[in-house]
Amino acid sequence: MDDASSSNRPDLSAYWMPFTANRQFKADPRLFVAARGLYYRTEDGREVLDATSGLWCVNAGHGRPEIAEAVQRQLLTLDYAPAFQMSHPAAFELASRIAELTPAGLDRIFFTNSGSEAVETALKIALAYHRARGEGQRTRFIGRERAYHGVNFGGMSVGGLVNNRRTFTLLPGVDHLRHTHDLERNAFSRGQPAHGAELADELERRIALHGADTIAAVIVEPVAGSGGVLPPPVGYLERLRAICDRHGLILIFDEVITGFGRLGSWFGSQHYGVTPDMMTFAKAVTSGYLPLGGVFVGPRVREWLEADPAYMLAHGNTYTGHPTCCAAGVANINLMRAEDLPAKAAAAGKRLGAGLGGLVDHPGVAEIRGEGLVWAIGLAPSIAPGPFTEALLQRGVIGRGLPYANSVAYSPPLIITDEEVDELLAATAAVLDELA
Ligand SMILES: Cc1ncc(COP(=O)(O)O)c(C=O)c1O
Repeated sequence: MDDASSSNRPDLSAYWMPFTANRQFKADPRLFVAARGLYYRTEDGREVLDATSGLWCVNAGHGRPEIAEAVQRQLLTLDYAPAFQMSHPAAFELASRIAELTPAGLDRIFFTNSGSEAVETALKIALAYHRARGEGQRTRFIGRERAYHGVNFGGMSVGGLVNNRRTFTLLPGVDHLRHTHDLERNAFSRGQPAHGAELADELERRIALHGADTIAAVIVEPVAGSGGVLPPPVGYLERLRAICDRHGLILIFDEVITGFGRLGSWFGSQHYGVTPDMMTFAKAVTSGYLPLGGVFVGPRVREWLEADPAYMLAHGNTYTGHPTCCAAGVANINLMRAEDLPAKAAAAGKRLGAGLGGLVDHPGVAEIRGEGLVWAIGLAPSIAPGPFTEALLQRGVIGRGLPYANSVAYSPPLIITDEEVDELLAATAAVLDELA
């Protein structure tokens, strides 16, 4: 790892940080200067356990030479090629490699540079599909309360986090289903909660209100991430699928967090046995080493769009399918397959879930929930996530506060060892003792 100390810290004033209280950060900066495996190193030389995979993305762990070397090779071979009307082999190679992993039929892939762009792209493809079928009046989207679908206008509008929405103008014609968090009926259920399938029937009510022939698509995260780590109630996704089929709506799963092994399966769709019409992905496709996202398009949509021999999606960016990002993706997928990281996630997740389950009687804990290797502790009302994650960091562990669910989430790299899981559990128990 490189060495660094606060003495060679750059000036912090010019950079406006995202989703960060800038003044507060700059008064007490937290800068990581290196990372390897599960650990970041801070500028003052402390090792910190990354129990959040950065921002839910570094699934293969930090500092993997396989990915870094593939990126270097690609940069020195072909740094960039035009993305429109021309291309390069790495984009096609990555698309073919990841199409082998998706549910049957979801094998057309449009690349983007982020999860937010993936969501916008999926929403636009849904509109293009309905237009191709002669139903261009289907323009509404249905999202869900507490959903996070990124920060662009479409994703923000179908999203359900008030602080991200209240400052900005939203897309017209968007409605929301109820969120599925039910502390009274489902607290401490591990995996899929037993209660709440009927919440999917909200979609029938939205359809009754607006008319099916005005609605283009429904978008949900299979496991709501930033809104609280909420696995879907048993039967919920199946019901959404059935209602969409009944009324001709496109079902989109936002798999930006759940994709690429996090749940113990390659995708949430396979994990829950429900196949959407489109899936968005980002983050762990490169294990976060370089920005890349995209949309998997299934047969129902692609058959209509591909039917026109001159079909062209009037959509894309300069960096769509960037060679270095695609090279990082191929190297990442190779190592994830070679090491069977989804299976590792399932095993590590069992240990983490069981360990957190041992804390259910702690007065600081209101709830434990999770699936695979993404877990959350619902904190007692007297403990806010901010002070919790701060105390956790003092003990050398990064957790992610989820204020909408008064929770702290753990989503460590899938390579986490038993000893590292135990270190995370010990720090959690100590912080609960300190704050409860
Ligand atoms: C489910 C989901 N969708 C979309 C996004 C947006 O992705 P990005 O931050 O890459 O734009 C996120 C980011 O956390 C996410 O969790």
